[in-house]
Amino acid sequence: MAMSQLAEKPMPAPTPEPRVRVENLRIAFPRPDAPPLEVLSGISLDVADGEFVAVVGPSGSGKSTILRAICGLLKPAGGEVRVDGRPVSDPPPEVGFMFQKDALLPWLTVTQNIRVGAELSGMSKAEQETRIPALIRLLRLDGFEDAYPKQLSGGMRQRASLGRLLAYNPSLMLMDEPFGALDYQTKIVMGRELLRIWEAERRAIIFVTHDIEEAVALADRVVVFSARPARIVADYRVDLPRPRDLRAMRGDPAFVHLTESIWSDLALPA
Ligand SMILES: Nc1ncnc2c1ncn2[C@@H]1O[C@H](COP(=O)(O)OP(=O)(O)O)[C@@H](O)[C@H]1O
Ligand SMILES: [Mg+2]
Repeated sequence: MAMSQLAEKPMPAPTPEPRVRVENLRIAFPRPDAPPLEVLSGISLDVADGEFVAVVGPSGSGKSTILRAICGLLKPAGGEVRVDGRPVSDPPPEVGFMFQKDALLPWLTVTQNIRVGAELSGMSKAEQETRIPALIRLLRLDGFEDAYPKQLSGGMRQRASLGRLLAYNPSLMLMDEPFGALDYQTKIVMGRELLRIWEAERRAIIFVTHDIEEAVALADRVVVFSARPARIVADYRVDLPRPRDLRAMRGDPAFVHLTESIWSDLALPA
């Protein structure tokens, strides 16, 4: 009797391996006539599958550096980075990157640029035939399939870059101030597009920005870096409901409260 009761008791669900595990990561850059410049001093951060994490911090605090370390482009002076349980050395194939400046190939059209991502992912020609036009519609680039990057606005170029990233189909997206060079309105529109896509096809995202409101508006979690050498001074869960209305949300007391807290975290001396 006792045994059968025991058997019926639901087993706790196994905790899934986080997509990213950063453990006590130290990054220091050698300098010719000075001790190494310590940029990250013992950062630990887990990102779960499908989680949208924003990283905010002062300029020069090491936000780009942590992304480069996560994709294996920098060798740690201490600690470790694991992606899907494996220590990273070279950029792992499941990771996709997006920067502030679009990295489109200027001699290729929008469709051809997106196809680069699809080819890299090993997508079959047959699947490309349906997936690429679907991405173009999703990103509202219809009518510009055959345009070259120089014929596009900044916002459209970033949308095409996002298209290429999505065609590559990474399970982890590292985004380094991807909308930082865009005007305010375009930035809001891009944030909306990103959320629409992310809500449809969840993947883990680490989104670096210096824009606190953008971080809170988009993410599940906001991690706050101190000035260099970066430590994590706060890690907030953003409990705003989804799907989010990026305009209405700005008046929400929870939104205002959280952005105020982050402002005061950043004002603290390092
Ligand atoms: N390859 C490098 N060699 C030397 N110093 C670097 C290198 N990359 C970044 N740094 C320094 O590390 C610090 C953090 O840079 P970064 O991660 O780009 O900051 P953030 O993205 O937060 O603005 C800065 O002081 C920068 O000058
Ligand atoms: Mg940066």
